Amino acid sequence: MAGEKSEIKKRNLHLTEEFLKKSSSICAYDVPSLDARQDIKIIETPKLGAEAARKAIEEWGQPKSKITHLIFYASSGVDMPGADYQLVKLLGLGSSVKRVMLYHLGCYAGGTILRIAKDLAENNVGARVLAVCSEITVDSFRGPSDSDMSCLVGQAIFGDGAAALIIGAHPDTLLVERPLFELESAAQTILPNSEGAVEAHLREVGLTYYLSKDLPTLVSNNIENCLVEAFSELGISDWNSLFWIVHSGGPAILKEIEAKVGLNKEKLRASWHMLSEYGNMFSTSVFFILDEIRRKSLEEGRSTTGEGLEWGVLFAFGPGVTVETIVLRSVPISTTSP
Ligand SMILES: CC(C)(COP(=O)(O)OP(=O)(O)OC[C@H]1O[C@@H](n2cnc3c(N)ncnc32)[C@H](O)[C@@H]1OP(=O)(O)O)[C@@H](O)C(=O)NCCC(=O)NCCS
Repeated sequence: MAGEKSEIKKRNLHLTEEFLKKSSSICAYDVPSLDARQDIKIIETPKLGAEAARKAIEEWGQPKSKITHLIFYASSGVDMPGADYQLVKLLGLGSSVKRVMLYHLGCYAGGTILRIAKDLAENNVGARVLAVCSEITVDSFRGPSDSDMSCLVGQAIFGDGAAALIIGAHPDTLLVERPLFELESAAQTILPNSEGAVEAHLREVGLTYYLSKDLPTLVSNNIENCLVEAFSELGISDWNSLFWIVHSGGPAILKEIEAKVGLNKEKLRASWHMLSEYGNMFSTSVFFILDEIRRKSLEEGRSTTGEGLEWGVLFAFGPGVTVETIVLRSVPISTTSP
């Protein structure tokens, strides 16, 4: 089991009026513009991730020299050495921190980094894993085309964001490490008959993507199976007894999941709230939702970080269609307060 601390930073970096006026190739629908996009992403992706990481380390309250591993995820901006290397420099981390850099997975990657961090933390005594996601949509921003509905949908819902967490096993309570959630289990699956439903391709014109209009139905039809697999060992089958973190992919997805699983209205409150505030921020969305849940739980005087409940589920999904299912256990609020 692993504890975690999270802190989050969100801002819209580049798509200002001034920037758009001088970036005609990025504003066109299909003009070669990869170099211009990469020039921004390679610099800004680690910088945005570093802002989130600094906050997470500050809240964790331990010296950064205690960080043993780093996992960095970004949907694009691929480079060598990667954003993980740049982050080490920006944060002043030790040169022997063991790094994993992941690019180009898509929206499910928030679940992926939790799954990998859990394995690292549980299999390396004393490990403290800094997990960072940083997403900047400048690689896929473009003007409209009458024949590309996916592009229009993406421009309407996608947004920038970054999130960072510290994950470890056996929190050192003497050093005042105060876990916020425990990671009970982590699973990944490819949904049946879903090939081609979500794809993204890096081209000379930047990142292009296809989003099937059937995606909400595809995801929601398979959620119950994922729940049964994740919770049968715990003897849990009442899905309204859980706190819920669902990647805020789009309103149709949240609506269909609520209907198919029979969720009470308030179950996806945090996912809806983050979707309306920030849109779909790819891998980082689930962490904004998790953060909202623990903050609101504290504010409302709930007994645990998970809305007063013990068990929760985190769903992240994206290209494949791939689903990451994380079973979370909340912790009593009193142990998280200073
Ligand atoms: C796109 C979206 C926000 C529009 O929501 P809405 O305004 O409530 O409208 P609807 O869902 O009823 O869709 C309106 C129309 O757009 C079509 N449409 C929706 N998504 C589409 C897509 N990806 N490609 C093509 N057409 C699409 C619908 O079929 C519908 O067409 P119709 O009027 O001919 O029936 C919503 O459909 C959504 O959340 N989709 C999922 C977004 C997604 O794929 N996210 C990525 C997840 S990683």
